[in-house]
Amino acid sequence: MQQGAMKPKPRTTGGAITVVRRLDGIDVSRLANLSLNENAWGTVPGAVAAAADAAAHASLYADTRSWALREAIGAFYGVDPACVVPGNGSEEILDIAGRVYARPGDEILAPALSFAQFRIVAWRLGVDYVESPTTGQLDVDMDAMIAAITPRTRVIFLANPGNPTGRAVSGAELMRLADAVPGNVLLVLDCAYAEFGDAEAGAVAMRLAQERPNVLTTRTFSKAWGLAGMRLGWGVATREVADALNAMRGIGNVSGPAQMAGIAGMRHAETPAWLDQTLANVIRARELLTGGLRQAGFEVPVSHTNFVMARVPSDAGFHAGDVVRRVAEAGVLIRACDDYGLDDWLRISAGLDGPMRSVIETMTDMAIRG
Ligand SMILES: Cc1ncc(COP(=O)(O)O)c(C=O)c1O
Repeated sequence: MQQGAMKPKPRTTGGAITVVRRLDGIDVSRLANLSLNENAWGTVPGAVAAAADAAAHASLYADTRSWALREAIGAFYGVDPACVVPGNGSEEILDIAGRVYARPGDEILAPALSFAQFRIVAWRLGVDYVESPTTGQLDVDMDAMIAAITPRTRVIFLANPGNPTGRAVSGAELMRLADAVPGNVLLVLDCAYAEFGDAEAGAVAMRLAQERPNVLTTRTFSKAWGLAGMRLGWGVATREVADALNAMRGIGNVSGPAQMAGIAGMRHAETPAWLDQTLANVIRARELLTGGLRQAGFEVPVSHTNFVMARVPSDAGFHAGDVVRRVAEAGVLIRACDDYGLDDWLRISAGLDGPMRSVIETMTDMAIRG
């Protein structure tokens, strides 16, 4: 056979997955970024200095078990460090859960309008991805989700609160789901935005993960803690599940600087007050955006996260993509949601006053003038 006649066939999704999309003629790197739900108010105290100290030892491998980090998580959140799974972002924990519990022929179930990563986990594994319908618009339909469980279901993902919807289900609904999930199915409760939502629902997820042998919950340092670029997340489950996941994660998956940043943040005396202030900032920003955009005529559902969704009215005379461009021209990057099948929706992160006012003013102006 001729050399080069055959080529390895990449199993890519077909299109490049880019988090920040390009806008012709606009340098998006210069815009205030309200498209990624980062913490606009900075980073938890102590973390940056600790990461810099750790970087001074970059010639050495960091602790591959991330044990001190797991102990710090254990102390801060009241969980057993042996039951903690450290991740290169919580995204990695979702991926590991798929790798450990699902194989081709199996199904991964999640509600429609879920975080894109759930679908990517299934696709990477060659597992069928099943979506249960939402109620009406953005909300999870728990009955439909439970009804969609089949004998082939192996993993169920639920982000609570959800991205891109910003919507949430209650702790009682989480319990109802956990009760309905067969024992041989892993229920993954992704609580990346838990700090901004109903504390009770987050606590229920944490409790279920510690008590039930088939529940995992994931948390991240990327949002409330302001450490998105450090890539640090974690999961907690019973010992058997945690051991299985820890055995399948990459050796050294969490870098030394990321481990030290997380530890320092959790141990810093000012952190509880800083987290409270972050939450207050997010709530204030969320209210400002929600109020301003509703007044301009956009539909804005109540958000339980650090971003809001806004719907362009069908008779507006312009589309969501037009809004993204106009707002970018005003110096701010926001996100269209067409890749989620939500063609007329925009997702806008809670941010500093200046960029948010630019968003509200630009969108109000568009609504008035078309
Ligand atoms: C619902 C949800 N889960 C998980 C993540 C992943 O976060 P990270 O990998 O930064 O921890 C995100 C990020 O935006 C998210 O929106």
